[in-house]
Amino acid sequence: MVNKITVVGAGNVGATTAQRLAEKELARRVILVDIQEGIPQGKGLDQWESAPIAGFDTRISGTNTYEETAGSEIVIVTAGIARKPGMSRDDLLNTNAGIVKQVSESIRDSSPEAIIIMVSNPLDVMSYVAKQVTGFPRERVLGMAGVLDTARYRSFIAEALDVSVRDIQAMVLGGHGDTMVPLISYTSVSGIPVTQLMTADKLQAIVDRTRNGGAEIVKYLKTGSAYYAPSAAAVQMCEAIVNDQKRILPCAAWLEGEYGMKGLFLGVPCKLGRGGLERIFEVELTQSEREALEKSAEAVREPMAAVKL
Ligand code: LAC
Repeated sequence: MVNKITVVGAGNVGATTAQRLAEKELARRVILVDIQEGIPQGKGLDQWESAPIAGFDTRISGTNTYEETAGSEIVIVTAGIARKPGMSRDDLLNTNAGIVKQVSESIRDSSPEAIIIMVSNPLDVMSYVAKQVTGFPRERVLGMAGVLDTARYRSFIAEALDVSVRDIQAMVLGGHGDTMVPLISYTSVSGIPVTQLMTADKLQAIVDRTRNGGAEIVKYLKTGSAYYAPSAAAVQMCEAIVNDQKRILPCAAWLEGEYGMKGLFLGVPCKLGRGGLERIFEVELTQSEREALEKSAEAVREPMAAVKL
């Protein structure tokens, strides 16, 4: 358990994240911050009132300013607008870059030692905004996307094979967009290569559905995007850090030469512990996976170049 975790943004992703953090008692205090008056206070109070029933002592509270967040060990950023049907994550670029810039300045000033987990979209670019604005080392700025994309991929495979989701090992790398790279060569079912259990066509359909997993939810919800799986993913990263689990999870990390790339955030296998990003694993890729990863990097570099800081 750490002392304080701040969740910025009291929308669906932020509020669900705060509740999950508290239910796992990952911190003594969880602070929900949002610029909208009353929303973080109301949701925070409602959540705290669930504590006697759910059985947690994490004190959740909401606020409109950063004073109460001071000295947070971890800050999860979910602030920004969400997609509507027909929008790509990149359509959110300028609005969310402005929001994330302000949020990052506040984090830098109030919690200079924090580890940031970025959730706002477009994810890889917003992680870059946070890193640039705070000046934090790469160990302390991570983006949540790969865990979510991998969870979607695993759930679809489990459903297709009628087996437990727990037995699907997989990793989705690359940017959090249509160019993400589910690694078929590293997908297994309790160690059995998935290609032995499923036809190539069926697997390809699952890969395509994974790439469009976010849009599939937006299409149903119409007024917003997914939040149950995104919050679960952010909390899994947070738990790995708080409990120094040394878990290997696909996260957006600032590359400094890994996979032959540098100067951008991209989803790669990361070891997470109390120090935040403790190691990036470079795994062997097939020719087509490497090409797909490079294409995905291009899809991140382009909006990154367009963002004004
Ligand atoms: C998704 C959005 C949140 O993938 O990026 O659902």
